[in-house]
Amino acid sequence: MPASRLRLIMRRKPMLIAIVIVAALFGMLFGFDQGVISGALPFIKQDFTVTAFMEGVITSAVPLGAVAGTLLAMVTTDRYGRKPMLILGAVIFLVGSLISAFAFNQYVLTLARLLIGVGIGASAMTAPMFLAEVAPARIRGTIVSAFQLMITIGIMISYMSDAAFGGSGDWRWMIGVGVFPSIIALVGILLSPETPRWLTLNSNADKARDIIVKLQPESSDAEVDQIIAEIKESAKDEEAAPAWSTFLKKGILPVTSFAMIVFVLQQLSGINAIIYYAPEIFKNAGFSGTTTDLLATVGIGVVNVALTVVAMYLVESMGRRKLLIMGFFGTAASMALVTVATMMDIAATPYLAMIGIFAFIAFFAVSLGPLPWLYMSELFPLRLRPRGMALASIANWFFNFIVALLFPELLAGIGIVGTFAIFTGFCVIGIFYAIAVAPETKGVTLEEIEQRTVAAD
Ligand code: BGC
Repeated sequence: MPASRLRLIMRRKPMLIAIVIVAALFGMLFGFDQGVISGALPFIKQDFTVTAFMEGVITSAVPLGAVAGTLLAMVTTDRYGRKPMLILGAVIFLVGSLISAFAFNQYVLTLARLLIGVGIGASAMTAPMFLAEVAPARIRGTIVSAFQLMITIGIMISYMSDAAFGGSGDWRWMIGVGVFPSIIALVGILLSPETPRWLTLNSNADKARDIIVKLQPESSDAEVDQIIAEIKESAKDEEAAPAWSTFLKKGILPVTSFAMIVFVLQQLSGINAIIYYAPEIFKNAGFSGTTTDLLATVGIGVVNVALTVVAMYLVESMGRRKLLIMGFFGTAASMALVTVATMMDIAATPYLAMIGIFAFIAFFAVSLGPLPWLYMSELFPLRLRPRGMALASIANWFFNFIVALLFPELLAGIGIVGTFAIFTGFCVIGIFYAIAVAPETKGVTLEEIEQRTVAAD
């Protein structure tokens, strides 16, 4: 989308912009709490004698808690609405961050991180849903990608917080900084409306109408009527919460499996091995010195943000499918470069590995990062959306958990070459998978996508 159009939207739709910022703030919290552990761990290890296994447990507590948070959101968003779940998510972030910052041993810290994980899982599912449901179709891709952008900004801020407090070794402050965005997110969501789609679905079409008018002030009465009619139409087929077996039905199964597998491949690409353990990877590749490691890590955070901005344009111009295929090609080539460079073990190895890692982050951020979130918020029919998105999110978090837990063991067991060769293999599988099944959803309304799915049933 050209910058001039973005400016026009900002002028004409202040309420939409405010809501997008609030919902996207949840992405920032998510990124912050994911990223902050990489720089904090070395100091936590000095305070509490932490074994290698416990290191994996403390790190992976967040994605494990997120699996539970996703299940919680699945029940709550459907029954009580998107907004109450986000309020609860913000409260959990706040409490979890406070407990982590004051944790007096590694077990309290692990429990607090589990709790934060619940908040992350719940809001990582609800916030994209919230965004997809308030966004007009033609800018939906950009708006939902704003969520991914905020995740990457959160990760970058956490790396900066790590670097800032790295000198004094104060891990409590590194983590405690998360309290401030939690408070902003809480106040923001309290002031936001419920989504028009959820309201319509819950017999409150009048209120939904008022909100659509505020969100899209340029729409004519007829256009607003049309939006409401389409929502009602898409909700007609199934009145009750769908049975789980619905996800296995002929027309839905391809959507269910695609939404889940694309997340599994996202995680098995190795992204979070880098996000959680970047300083350790740089050490393994031959770099020495904490300053280099921390600076390189901040560099990863910056590249991740910059290329996610590029993705926000490309999802609408290039489209989802082409971008996904390109992303898998790029991440496979970059991971292969890291693998080969570390295998050769020559003077240039650390630099080649560094180039490979930065290229990997760039290709991930422009494609594999935002696309699974976007797909999962677009592909499921309305009635199936909460449960469908829950299934996709669980796949995401579970494999995130597995990578976080096993990466230190893999590194110690089969070494950096073997570990990165495995990640390369999964990126290559991703190329074939994306070519075979990735759909195109650019510029199509959620209701039209739904009709396509139903027609295939
Ligand atoms: C992934 C996260 C990852 C992040 C990195 C997200 O799309 O789901 O697991 O840490 O991207 O930017």
